[in-house]
Amino acid sequence: MNAPAAETLELLRAYGFAVVPDVVTEPLLTRLREEAAALVALFGGGHRSEDFWHFTREGSSTPVLYRIHNLEQQPEARLAAGLFAAGPLHRLAEDLLGRPARARVIAMIVKMPWVAAAVPWHRDRTNVAPGTAINLSLFLDDSDGDNGCLEFVPGSHLLPDGADAEHVRADDSVQAVSAKAGDVAIHDVRIVHASRPNPSARPRRSLVIEFVLAGMEAE
Ligand code: NI
Repeated sequence: MNAPAAETLELLRAYGFAVVPDVVTEPLLTRLREEAAALVALFGGGHRSEDFWHFTREGSSTPVLYRIHNLEQQPEARLAAGLFAAGPLHRLAEDLLGRPARARVIAMIVKMPWVAAAVPWHRDRTNVAPGTAINLSLFLDDSDGDNGCLEFVPGSHLLPDGADAEHVRADDSVQAVSAKAGDVAIHDVRIVHASRPNPSARPRRSLVIEFVLAGMEAE
């Protein structure tokens, strides 16, 4: 992968999000997809822990997995742990932040076919300045408006800390962002965003790593 174009940096600074294509390519992409499938199958087989976040739909008793937290600590997620430790996402994050960066947390987001719920409008956190903490979402599947893509309010990362996400979303234009498997969507942790439900037959899985400037205090 080449260094991100100046355009990507400008988009990230001005709008709070951007997409960089083909950050992870074959054969690693297929291996990550296989690892993700195995983790989902583990849950389907009855594995439960406080890191496997799930919900139950009204009228159904079948739990729906939506997030695997602390992904690097799962024994079955060795490839994801590798990406958390070093590699292409670190290089991209450091290019975008312009300074040495540290990976703070990694999770797998799973939008199961037919049943995945929307994620409501929110900001990941606002206790950091714009441009100092970013989430990188590596897509393992193509993601579009039909299977739970991300949606952003452009420029909302620059709003005051107390801005209400639902109000911002109602008052401003919203942009849905598609991505292909292997692409990385980047967003400032302060941006107002959401994701759609997945009423389609296609899974939508992503690995999300938050990067912060090295030396920024752990909170
Ligand atoms: Ni979020």
